[in-house]
Amino acid sequence: MSALATVDPAAFGLGDIAECGPPAPTHHPRIWRITRHADCVAALRNRAVQTIDVTEELRLLQRARSVTLPGLAAFMSGVLVARRDPFHRSGREFLRSVQSGPTPPGTVRTHLQTMLGAAPQGEPIDLVPVMNRLPLVVLSGFIGLDPGTLDRLDHLLRQAMVDWAMGPHRMSLARMEESCSQAMAIIAGEFAAARASGEGRLYETLVAGCRTHGFDDEVISGLLFFLIVASIETTAGFLANLAILLQRLPEFSDAARRPGKAQRETVEEALRFIGPVRRLGRRTALEPIEIGGQVIPAGSSLHIDIEAAHRDPLAYPDPWSFDPSRNSPTSLAFSAGAHACLGGRISRQMAGEVLDVLAGYDISPAEDGPPDWTAHPGFRIPHTLMSVIRARDA
Ligand code: HEM
Repeated sequence: MSALATVDPAAFGLGDIAECGPPAPTHHPRIWRITRHADCVAALRNRAVQTIDVTEELRLLQRARSVTLPGLAAFMSGVLVARRDPFHRSGREFLRSVQSGPTPPGTVRTHLQTMLGAAPQGEPIDLVPVMNRLPLVVLSGFIGLDPGTLDRLDHLLRQAMVDWAMGPHRMSLARMEESCSQAMAIIAGEFAAARASGEGRLYETLVAGCRTHGFDDEVISGLLFFLIVASIETTAGFLANLAILLQRLPEFSDAARRPGKAQRETVEEALRFIGPVRRLGRRTALEPIEIGGQVIPAGSSLHIDIEAAHRDPLAYPDPWSFDPSRNSPTSLAFSAGAHACLGGRISRQMAGEVLDVLAGYDISPAEDGPPDWTAHPGFRIPHTLMSVIRARDA
């Protein structure tokens, strides 16, 4: 194996990645952590392992507190990763068809070139907002909403998700409902305008949702909301992570600047090394299951730690070396099984275009120390990425 570089986890602020081991219960006997690569794959592919249905949780919460939360309910109804068949299957088909919309190759390249061309050379700039812009532009082509509207929806819905993640005792139902009903009002206005014009990408999306899948506007809104929250932060985070590697690993930078196979392999290794998703949403074992030699009782929650699995020496020998030439299993950056990501192809395409543009710049960190990772148990993405860029031919 020709390792490119062995990375010190502390220098990259990755010292909090858990060690791999057999499936084990946590402090709570009904909550199990899965950390080895083969065990994560087995859990994700096991039909008896299902996601926890957030729509059901919300129903119970509404009943317990004697409230109705229509905006939040509409948003939750589209959270595909928490839904089961038959809705899950048709929801995926619908979102796949949305993604086949027109975003010509090169869109990301052109946008990034323009943004970096206008950025001050040799002075610190934050690359996070630059990277955030790129998935907005791509999604805008898919859905037919302008990037500013998508950004607004993303902020509102993400706020609701952060609240939801706080758990029933700390979340503010009023704040979540307010965010989601504002998002519903925005999208209802966009739907009305699209119907009035009778043409355009959003109109086609509505027609496909209603005629092909029999969805009403509320379900279509929920699914589009989920597409927004599933795609923007993850993709922008990954593109920023690529910039981090460019800044800090000269060997990465050399390989990533060579278009074609070398670049593609480098992107795959980057997905393993600092993919933006750390852990997968809650899963539950519907019946007793055996994984990695352990019997996990029915009703247990499974915490699938893909970031730990990406350091599993059985799957990735010498896991702290950044080595694009590994002949190892595909990473779990896009998950596996029934809920595997629908955006792998477009994300990889975007990564290639971003690296092509960044190849024209020298990029160095404007601050010492490890990257400024967002404090989030589920995501490995930078909060800010202060960088000094200089065009190579300048
Ligand atoms: C580098 C960027 C991305 C990463 C690392 C990523 C990662 C993931 C992961 C790990 C899951 C599974 C979640 C789970 O099982 O709990 C997922 C699901 C999903 N992703 Fe992505 N994603 C990315 C970009 C995108 C994009 C660009 C789109 C669409 C344009 C997208 C659409 C989806 C959808 C619809 C699902 C839910 C699938 C289902 O539940 O059946 N993602 N993604």
